[in-house]
Amino acid sequence: MMKPFKIRDIEINPPLILSPMAGVTDISFRRLLKRRGGIGLTVSEFISVEGLTRNNPKSKRQMRFFEEERPFAVQIFGGQPERMRMAAEMAEEVGADILDINCGCPAPKVVKHGGGSGLLRDYERLETILKEIKKSIKIPLTIKIRAGYYDHTINAVETARLAEGCGVEHIALHGRTKEQGYKGLANWDLVRRIKETVSVPVSGSGDVVSVEGAFEKWRETGCDGILIGRGAMANPWIFRQIEDALAARPIFQPNHEDRRAVLLEYFEMLREDMPEMAAIGKMKQLAGQFTKRLQGGALFRTTIYHSHSVTEILDRISEYFEAITTGRPYYGENGPKEAEEEAPVLDSCEAATVAS
Ligand SMILES: Cc1cc2nc3c(=O)[nH]c(=O)nc-3n(C[C@H](O)[C@H](O)[C@H](O)COP(=O)(O)O)c2cc1C
Repeated sequence: MMKPFKIRDIEINPPLILSPMAGVTDISFRRLLKRRGGIGLTVSEFISVEGLTRNNPKSKRQMRFFEEERPFAVQIFGGQPERMRMAAEMAEEVGADILDINCGCPAPKVVKHGGGSGLLRDYERLETILKEIKKSIKIPLTIKIRAGYYDHTINAVETARLAEGCGVEHIALHGRTKEQGYKGLANWDLVRRIKETVSVPVSGSGDVVSVEGAFEKWRETGCDGILIGRGAMANPWIFRQIEDALAARPIFQPNHEDRRAVLLEYFEMLREDMPEMAAIGKMKQLAGQFTKRLQGGALFRTTIYHSHSVTEILDRISEYFEAITTGRPYYGENGPKEAEEEAPVLDSCEAATVAS
């Protein structure tokens, strides 16, 4: 049965993790979601060790977090052991509770330098990196891996064993290969097999979008924790809902007002944290996600996408919620003729890396 677990002495309670997503899980998004409840661990976006160790301001900003997020893990990526070690020390210095290594990102730019999922096919490098870091930090070292590099070289169980041997204290698996990218489904049977193989806690990632889905994965794999990424973009209350189910409470059901409030709160946080145009850009990326399964959600996404100022965004949000709350049909900003068109949604760390 699902219960809190520990990464060394850090309690992950409830055993639910907001999955790291480059370009999405920044300090504002994490705080927004943490406030909805049910999150036992937050993780930064993956942060470049090349950037960190060269004092790149963007990378340094990505290490910031709020006290209310704790426990908080910094995730770093790179392929060069010395820089990985230096970056790990920097994360410890800024007060992160956990240091996580990205062994899953499929972006060519990351893999080319031996980092991300590249580490899954270079055990010598992976081992050197883990041992180097382990020697120099006191906070727990964790790892997030994929099923394997190619579809025909699935080695998650071996990678997990190697990591445990190097002193890694938690293993998270996203059960897709690097070759697979985000296609198909995640293989959760590998989570079960890793759990059977190692004695450190094991968590699974991939395709959990509902309370039932989370419970099913727990039952099937016996994993300790569950990570939710894209499912939390569409439903920021998913962690809280799973927590409700765990406590045998009625499951919280957000209404239109809750959704509107989340959008506005998010926009306000973004505007406090970054220049206006950047905040508008982020809003375009996420506003549609928050309204994904609602009536007129796709059209709302389009109208937000075509907005160019703070006022426009705020007006569009008011109009949309005004319409769906009163049950009127929603036609977007131009009236009934506008076609439903899909605005682009970023859907991989590759897209996020290219964009940044
Ligand atoms: C936009 C996006 C960015 C991502 N960035 C990262 C990242 O920086 N680090 C990481 O370990 N995984 C990253 N992932 C993978 C997710 O953490 C997660 O493992 C994967 O999306 C499957 O889980 P989900 O179906 O719950 O989203 C990213 C995924 C998406 C969609």
